[in-house]
Amino acid sequence: MKALAGRTALVTGGTGTIGSALVRELVAAGAQVILPCRDVARGQALAATVQEPGGVVVRPLDLAALRSVRDLATWAVATLPRLDVLIHGAAVWSRQRRVSAEGFELTFAVNHLGPFALTTALLPLLHRSQARVVTVASGLHVRGELAWDDVMQERGGFNGVRAYEQSKLANVMFALALARRAKVVSLALHPGVVRSGLTREYPEMWKHPPPGLVRAEAAARAIFRLAQDPALARKSGSYFDKDRPGATSAKAQSVPAQDRLWELSEQLLRRAADGQTPA
Ligand SMILES: NC(=O)c1ccc[n+]([C@@H]2O[C@H](COP(=O)([O-])OP(=O)(O)OC[C@H]3O[C@@H](n4cnc5c(N)ncnc54)[C@H](OP(=O)(O)O)[C@@H]3O)[C@@H](O)[C@H]2O)c1
Repeated sequence: MKALAGRTALVTGGTGTIGSALVRELVAAGAQVILPCRDVARGQALAATVQEPGGVVVRPLDLAALRSVRDLATWAVATLPRLDVLIHGAAVWSRQRRVSAEGFELTFAVNHLGPFALTTALLPLLHRSQARVVTVASGLHVRGELAWDDVMQERGGFNGVRAYEQSKLANVMFALALARRAKVVSLALHPGVVRSGLTREYPEMWKHPPPGLVRAEAAARAIFRLAQDPALARKSGSYFDKDRPGATSAKAQSVPAQDRLWELSEQLLRRAADGQTPA
């Protein structure tokens, strides 16, 4: 019997370099994969290449638009009898300061706020499915700082590396907080360094490729393991470096900081729902 037979997994970033390898892995393991993506045609093209095309359901999602996140969650709650695995794999790494549909800085919006909104909207479904939530963070989170008084980098010059590192710190803090706050198994990881579309705005990073590069398939396997290894059901709140326990920073582990981020995220979503642009 396949490891994920009869299970449903929703994967964001499934059209990406690591994500498309992950979708193949999940389908091969027998899962039905919900593949929300910005470019539905691209998602359908990927679905057509997997062994069992019926195993992939493509839905529209733009994490930079909270209405789109809400629409996906509403569809999922109304349609899916269960959701066993939620994998946050989508991300951007922007060089310029850009903003989401609601006016939030794009990196923070796509990498943290959208996934936060999606998870919290799906919680009833995740609870009743005793689900696993896997957040794809990055080893760069240890260099991240939460700029509490200017999370959106509205003042001073924009620094895309700082924004990305902050968003990946937010990923780990969110995953750890979720493990405490919800009845789900929540895990986070660094999937390994992969040459991908993520750094398309930073070509200089590849002049001297970093040591320890891995293939997208290896990164996908590390994520897949977190999504299904029964032994990890008791490890909720853990962070992994590929397939081994990984080191997080004191900042990531700080419970007051995790709770502060959670409250800030709720506040930002409320503000957006009220039609208020960021202060
Ligand atoms: N590559 C690495 O070395 C590395 C290292 C550590 C961590 N990671 C993490 O691994 C994950 C996958 O990265 P990757 O390297 O595979 O990057 P990638 O190839 O650039 O894939 C990123 C994915 O995110 C999606 N995405 C971007 N903006 C979106 C939006 N507004 N709404 C919905 N989806 C959106 C992209 O969709 P489109 O197809 O529409 O662009 C794509 O599917 C990310 O979380 C990244 O932070 C990567």
